[in-house]
Amino acid sequence: MIGLAGATLVACAEKAIPERQIVGADPARGLTLIKAEGCGVCHRVPGLKWPRGGVGGSLDSFSSQAMIAGRSPNRPDVLVAWLRDAPAMAPDTAMPASGLSEAQARDVAAYLYTLDAD
Ligand code: HEC
Repeated sequence: MIGLAGATLVACAEKAIPERQIVGADPARGLTLIKAEGCGVCHRVPGLKWPRGGVGGSLDSFSSQAMIAGRSPNRPDVLVAWLRDAPAMAPDTAMPASGLSEAQARDVAAYLYTLDAD
C-alpha cells in the first residue's frame, strides 16, 4: 500500500502524465466543442466564462483526478466513452449522453487533460 502511494506521487510530480496525452487531438477545438455542447450549463469549466453551472461540479483540475465521477479510472479511452455516453457507463448518472463523435470527444478530452492542479 505504501509502495503504491509512492508510485502515485511520482506519477503526479511529472510534468505531463503520458497516458493522459491524446495523440492527434486538439485541445483548442475541444474548448470550442465544450462551448457548443453546453457543458457549462452543468459544469464550471476553466476557459468558459458563461454559463457556469453547478449540477455536475467544476472540471477545474480534472487532469489531476484519479477517477471519473468517482467510479471509473481517469484514462483517455474511458473519458472519451464517458463524454459520448455517460449513462451507458453509469445508468443512474445525471450527465446525459452527448452528440459528440469519437474524434470530437477526443478533442474535448484533450482540453480537459490540460486542466491540472497548478
Ligand atoms: C445536464 C447536466 C450535464 C451536462 C450538460 C454535462 N454534464 Fe458532465 N456531469 C454531469 C453530472 C451530474 C456529473 C456527475 C456524474 C456522476 O457522478 O454520476 C458529470 C460528470 C462529468 C465528468 C466527470 C467529472 C469528475 O469530477 O469526475 C466530466 C469529465 C464531465 N461531466 C464532462 C462533461 C462535458 C465535457 C460535457 C459537455 C460535452 C458535460 N459534462 C455535460 C452533468 C452534466
